[in-house]
Amino acid sequence: MNAEAEKSRLPRGEAPTQRLFFALWPSEEVRSGLAEVMASLDIHRAKPVPAENLHITLLFLGSVAAPTRICAEAIAEGIAGQPFELSLDQIGFWPKSGILWLGARELPESLAALVRDLHLGVAGCGIDLDARPFTPHVTLMRKALVVRRERRLVAVAWRVDNFVLVESKTTRDGSHYQVLTSWRLDADCRGAQAGLGGSSPYP
Ligand code: 2AM
Repeated sequence: MNAEAEKSRLPRGEAPTQRLFFALWPSEEVRSGLAEVMASLDIHRAKPVPAENLHITLLFLGSVAAPTRICAEAIAEGIAGQPFELSLDQIGFWPKSGILWLGARELPESLAALVRDLHLGVAGCGIDLDARPFTPHVTLMRKALVVRRERRLVAVAWRVDNFVLVESKTTRDGSHYQVLTSWRLDADCRGAQAGLGGSSPYP
């Protein structure tokens, strides 16, 4: 649907919104490592996350209008982050939500700082943010009931040198994520790489 058609479906006077989150987006190599971990798990009756959707959420913004998105992007642009190595070496399970995840035992200081800076900055954009502590994880499966411990987990090594803003759209066949903007984590070479195929309804 184009922007005009989408606008015409909104109640009069209501600004269009986008459901957004900041994330770490895996390279193809990391993605295939994640897919291998998923394939090695002995889990039944769970809903696997499609390989193309695997990511680490840094900060969930929810549904926001254009001025809030612009504010959040300005915060991201101003972040002087550092690249870091992430070792995804632990399987976790949240029974209440049925989420099975792959996470990092060790939280690199640069990642903690990135999330902290995003959170503090974006809070000033007027968004009601989740106050729970950050647990770096890739959701692998949803609606899992029982998880049997796998024999041996081969850790996924991830060299992180950028972070992204993603739009989430829910359709009848599930969630579709689109990377809108990417920022490098490199104090000497900063700047956004906008327009990564995003189809924003905003000019
Ligand atoms: P997850 O990272 O545990 O999978 C898009 O919905 C992403 O934002 C998902 O990866 C999701 O969880 C994360 N997220 C965090 N808080 C959320 C919330 N309140 N509602 C929906 N998704 C949320």
